[in-house]
Amino acid sequence: MMDASQIVDLDRYPIADIDDAPGRALVDACRRDLDELALCTLPGFIRPEVLPALLAEAQALVPKAYRNDNLRTPYGWMCNKSFSPGHPRSQVFRNRCGFVMADQFPGDGPIECMFRWDPLTDFVREALGCETLYRSACPHLSLNLGIEGEDDQLGWHFDTNDGHATPTQGPDPSFRPR
Ligand SMILES: [Fe+2]
Repeated sequence: MMDASQIVDLDRYPIADIDDAPGRALVDACRRDLDELALCTLPGFIRPEVLPALLAEAQALVPKAYRNDNLRTPYGWMCNKSFSPGHPRSQVFRNRCGFVMADQFPGDGPIECMFRWDPLTDFVREALGCETLYRSACPHLSLNLGIEGEDDQLGWHFDTNDGHATPTQGPDPSFRPR
């Protein structure tokens, strides 16, 4: 099982030591970006040499994904029935994609290892300025992998989350969702 400290570039982003000066400076920079820009980016957060292992874990899970194909409004958690057809609350967007649930992960892969690493949770909590932050214990929703192939789309929507941390990676010619 890969150690999460091998996955995150801790030389550049010392998230395992957020009480030390470099860690505090990182947290402060993230908070400043979130306050001023509502967005904080951490290029190279995942070490490039371990990316293939993360992509391999994701690739192996692609065939197991549950498929979705429906229409959704951007405000799906609210009742939107009383609005006129032209109102933003009445708009619908195609939502066609796959999801891998937490219980489908192998249990010892690098994605899961990184996600369940306490220092990462603590770092996100500090960056968001929250007093407490817990990872979900749900066996299905605590860790999801979204799969979008050609012609898929995640219906545009608002979320009610307090914050969102998303690992992203540029196109990899070897990664083919379907
Ligand atoms: Fe969402």
